[in-house]
Amino acid sequence: MKHLVTLKDWSSEEILQVLDLADELKREPSKYYDTMHRKVLVMIFEKPSLRTRVSFETGMCQMGGDAIYYDMSTSPLGSGKENIHDTIKVLSRYADIVMARLFSHASLEEMVKYGSIPVINGLTNYTHPCQILADLQTVREHKGALKGLTLAYLGDAFNNVTHSLLFGCAKVGMNIRVGCPAGKEYSPDPQVLADAQAFGAISGAEVRLTHDAAEAVKGADVVYTDSWMSYHIPEAELDARVRVFRPYQVNAELMAHANKEAIFMNCLPAIRGYEQTAEVMDGPQSVVFDEVENRLHMHKAVMVHLLNQA
Ligand code: CP
Repeated sequence: MKHLVTLKDWSSEEILQVLDLADELKREPSKYYDTMHRKVLVMIFEKPSLRTRVSFETGMCQMGGDAIYYDMSTSPLGSGKENIHDTIKVLSRYADIVMARLFSHASLEEMVKYGSIPVINGLTNYTHPCQILADLQTVREHKGALKGLTLAYLGDAFNNVTHSLLFGCAKVGMNIRVGCPAGKEYSPDPQVLADAQAFGAISGAEVRLTHDAAEAVKGADVVYTDSWMSYHIPEAELDARVRVFRPYQVNAELMAHANKEAIFMNCLPAIRGYEQTAEVMDGPQSVVFDEVENRLHMHKAVMVHLLNQA
């Protein structure tokens, strides 16, 4: 049984295989119109979503299957009346595949342990692999390759997107520089960084952390940022976080340090004026809505890939 829990578990060959499949699904969607006939995806959400929810549901429908939205807040699991063990065992008797967006990565791992259907990580506190697979597809579309390119990530680096970027880039041989404020509450998990450096030693990717935004971006082919206010962060922390992250805002001045042909990415949702300016987000280097579209093609590819091996 194959799952998508974190890109740390996937080989570079498997990542590239799914990227190729996503490209084919984008190019020739009609070839896959019946691939999921009578298949059912259950989507468990403990946090909000626009892209993940709608792209998975649309993707399953486009391939002839059905998707069920299961809201944790109105479930026995959410109210503490039922545990994860029993929940995933029940779902395994009804559905063919599960995608879950959960606060706790350990809960997702418990689903994998006790379920008997493929489990897809739709975002946890640790990683967001679906997002980064779609991002790698987007980079390859725009740049023609991945190996040897340099991606600069700016801003809040103690988050799932940074962790998955570290794993994903290092596995495919893309250099990654993380530019973030000093302090463990803003920096990647040290173990993730160490793992990515080990993967990079094999693939030839350089994996580096810096607190200097301009140094992170210098000569980069891809400039990437993410929300300063991830879903779990209380609004009361807004002002303090804006002060801390302001030097890492992606604006025209910072973009000028990157390669002239660099692309700008943000997995969204985004707030113009915070992690990037409107000028960058809506400017000619921005590919944010290509990233959005590729979530659809990539999620279809992930489901086909996992169910082919179930
Ligand atoms: N980027 C992302 O996962 O978007 P949603 O939170 O809208 O699913």
